[in-house]
Amino acid sequence: MAATILDGKAFAARVRGQVAEQVAQLKEVHAITPGLAVVLVGEDPASQVYVRSKGKMTVEVGMKSVEHKLDAATPEADLLALIQDLNSDDSIHGILVQLPLPDHMNEDMVINAIAPAKDVDGFHISNVGLLGTGQKAMVPCTPLGCLMMLRDHHGSLSGLDAVVIGRSNIVGKPMAQLLLGDSCTVTIAHSRTKDLPDVVRRADIVVAAVGRPRMVLGDWIKPGATVIDVGINRIEKPEGGTRLVGDADFDSCAAVAGAITPVPGGVGPMTIACLLANTLTACCRANGLPEPTGLTA
Ligand code: GUN
Repeated sequence: MAATILDGKAFAARVRGQVAEQVAQLKEVHAITPGLAVVLVGEDPASQVYVRSKGKMTVEVGMKSVEHKLDAATPEADLLALIQDLNSDDSIHGILVQLPLPDHMNEDMVINAIAPAKDVDGFHISNVGLLGTGQKAMVPCTPLGCLMMLRDHHGSLSGLDAVVIGRSNIVGKPMAQLLLGDSCTVTIAHSRTKDLPDVVRRADIVVAAVGRPRMVLGDWIKPGATVIDVGINRIEKPEGGTRLVGDADFDSCAAVAGAITPVPGGVGPMTIACLLANTLTACCRANGLPEPTGLTA
């Protein structure tokens, strides 16, 4: 039987709709507008596209969007001073510093200068620790999006075997923590894992986040398993030009899996939707209001 295609584009539109509804209520009942500040340093073309798209969707859900574009040669101290200003600005509930930063800046230092309660990326060391100890954290957007899609498809994840391929701080490690939080039995695999296909064959849930185009093959997948493909790799087409592919070989995996996310149109659109959800969550927490429903880990 062919796998169910998990449509992240439609799911993300639904999440943004839920965010927009709850933002409208916040405005009407409490006269509060959630605000998101995005800081871009330099002119990396991919980052410029992301930042533009974030700004547009922030406004579409009814939030305040602030963009700060700094020259690539900006001293680190100036960026840290801007972050301090945003930390103490009550109209800003979420702060995102677009990565990567120019080489003269220390990314850890910059990220850890953001007030943890406004760290809508969930990258601050306090949020990493809170997530790791099962406490209320800001959760990184891409793994949160994957979790939402998995919960939507499976209902309960309790007792399922999950293999996360990739151990990055942004996806692999927080994804593993979230799956553990939902009572999965979790294995983190990576480039040095022995017998990777055999490890993956045990999994009811496979999350591929290695950044290697079409690495996960259909004969690694247990029949009926769910494949969540976080990879976004641009490859050359034989006839010229390029196209996007994931970390899973879609056709062979879809022939065996029970469900699979496509690339593009799978996990990708969920990242910005979850950024907006996190900004709403941060705003509710800052104002002592109940957490938004269905939008947190
Ligand atoms: N660069 C690419 N993806 C991301 C992201 O999710 N957050 C930030 N801050 N920078 C990024």
